[in-house]
Amino acid sequence: MEDVAAGDHAGVAGGRGRYGIDGGLIGVSVFALVLAGAAATGVWAARHLRPGLAALAGVAGAAVAGSAASYLYFTGRGKLSVWAQVLDELSLRGDEHVLDVGCGRGAVLMLAARRFPGGRAVGADLWRRRDQSGNSRAAAERNAAAEGVSERVDIVDADARDLPFPSASFDVVVSSLTIHNIPVAQGRGLALQEAMRVLRPGGRMRIVDEGADQYAAVLKDAGYAGVTVQQLDWRTWYGIPGHHLTLVAASKPPA
Ligand SMILES: C[S@@+](CC[C@H](N)C(=O)[O-])C[C@H]1O[C@@H](n2cnc3c(N)ncnc32)[C@H](O)[C@@H]1O
Repeated sequence: MEDVAAGDHAGVAGGRGRYGIDGGLIGVSVFALVLAGAAATGVWAARHLRPGLAALAGVAGAAVAGSAASYLYFTGRGKLSVWAQVLDELSLRGDEHVLDVGCGRGAVLMLAARRFPGGRAVGADLWRRRDQSGNSRAAAERNAAAEGVSERVDIVDADARDLPFPSASFDVVVSSLTIHNIPVAQGRGLALQEAMRVLRPGGRMRIVDEGADQYAAVLKDAGYAGVTVQQLDWRTWYGIPGHHLTLVAASKPPA
């Protein structure tokens, strides 16, 4: 596996969309509850002259606060930074048709739309709020307007396991933190097959996800070229230092 280093990529800063928090409010609530527990324990221990316990609560609180900061960083700026890099490295012409499978509020979709001024960026989702706070088609549409890309963005209600697009209709298919949210392995397999079906021969696929390396074998078996698995850097720690998301890249063989 190669490391993808953090860098400075056009189109990260200056974004005017609001993209919510992955994991919905449940993720934030878990961090808040654990922090509150550590703080309450620390205060109780200090009042009852238990310096060892107070110090332990302080260390635990600091660790949870760091973890929460890393989590919030990734679901905000970190994700935009990683995807800006992934999209820039595609070095495309700017007139491509791009599909974002499970676009949510559109963080990756709008980055793509800003890079393909002569193309179209299509986002497909079924808008599960437990996966992203404030997730809705309307939120994605508002973000397209805020980013000034509405005229080249289409937002479609669709299940990744049964995409409503003809075969070979996209030059690029991307997906960010979506496929792992599909509950059973068979469903995740279907979603990958659908992403492969709608990609045109010679088109490029990029998936960033938990455990995305398992998709590489399927892509290789289907004859995809240049299949690579990259362990992403600290920007994708996602609340757990040392934990990394994976980028799978591949090209569909020419017809
Ligand atoms: C963690 S969010 C990520 C959203 C977006 N890709 C991003 O990176 O900001 C996961 C997304 O997957 C979507 N999703 C989950 N299961 C899906 C399915 N079967 N078909 C389409 N979208 C799905 C959710 O609605 C949610 O928008």
